[in-house]
Amino acid sequence: MSPRTAGQYGSEKLGVRIAGVGHYLPEGELPNTYFETILDTSDEWITKRTGIKNRRKCNVDEGESCRVMCAGALQNALKMARMEASELDLLIIGTCTGESTVPSVACRVAAMIGCEGAGAFDITAACSGFVYSLNVAHDLIKSGSYRSIGVVGADEMSSIMDYKDRAVCVLFGDAAGAAVVRATDDTTKGMISQVMHSDGTAWKELYRPRHQWDVNPETEEKSMIVGKLQMNGRQIYKFAVSKFSEVIEETLERANMKPEDVDHFVCHQSNARILESARERFGIPEEKLYINIDRYGNTSAGSVPLCLSELWNEGRIKEGERVMLLAFGAGLTWGSSLWQL
Ligand code: ACO
Repeated sequence: MSPRTAGQYGSEKLGVRIAGVGHYLPEGELPNTYFETILDTSDEWITKRTGIKNRRKCNVDEGESCRVMCAGALQNALKMARMEASELDLLIIGTCTGESTVPSVACRVAAMIGCEGAGAFDITAACSGFVYSLNVAHDLIKSGSYRSIGVVGADEMSSIMDYKDRAVCVLFGDAAGAAVVRATDDTTKGMISQVMHSDGTAWKELYRPRHQWDVNPETEEKSMIVGKLQMNGRQIYKFAVSKFSEVIEETLERANMKPEDVDHFVCHQSNARILESARERFGIPEEKLYINIDRYGNTSAGSVPLCLSELWNEGRIKEGERVMLLAFGAGLTWGSSLWQL
């Protein structure tokens, strides 16, 4: 059987293209050497266990925040797409660290960049936020309901870190990435297959308590801090390694493709060891699986679109190629999005 083409997914008459990508990185840096000064840790431990050397952090005193990063990333994506913000019909933001849930981050970003009037909403799927949002955006365009959608993945992880918890705070950084997705008459372009899953039974492995009564009832951990991310690193590691393989296999199976049919695997950056194990398992050459966790750490929903934007802006991803985006995170959630660009 020949691989599915975008034209066989949903309406036969419409293709969907990624018209522009962009990202925003705060200038503030938190290198491993900084953590050596505030915690019982070392550059050597962090590098060996995670591959991380540096991360970015919003300058809150200067008003830098999740919302500001979203607006910056989307404006860069609009520039690449040669579009005005007012041309967007809809704005979807995947984030779990917005300044507010009421209103959504998307409504305020729409007002900031000049697309007020467009529909705007947030999607909460933690590290999978961008992939989930992109899948929704694709299908809304494919259905014919919308023509141009801004999709952002962003997280200000520094706002939910307990900087005394060395097992968690060394892993995360702040970033945003965005894509502008548009309808096109070229039906060869668009999504080939997608996957979205969750398992809420394992919520306690990675979560942020909002109230004292929300603290995981099964733990006797006394250092639990309301508002700060809590993680069972070993369990999450096992989850990530197993879901990484499963999600690649399922996405390829739905597309009737093999790993070698994909030009780029754009993966959530949670740990360099997790990425390497997937690369080895599927025999993916180094140049097809991008790694930037050394520079930015785990930026949650910002991670996948940041990789996509860097690759595209460096000319390493081109129109006509096949790209699989994949992510996994709190929820637990995991998902993928395989595109014919
Ligand atoms: N510096 C020094 N020592 C540390 C640090 C640190 N920053 N953090 C933990 N340790 C210690 C522990 O206290 C422990 O000490 P002990 O043996 O005396 O008890 C020791 O190091 C080993 O701890 P482990 O947790 O077993 O270390 P592990 O090899 O599992 O690495 C890590 C920990 C890096 C967190 C790993 O489990 C991991 O990457 N897990 C996945 C985390 C992840 O991806 N989170 C993102 C969440 S969302 C998502 O993206 C999936």
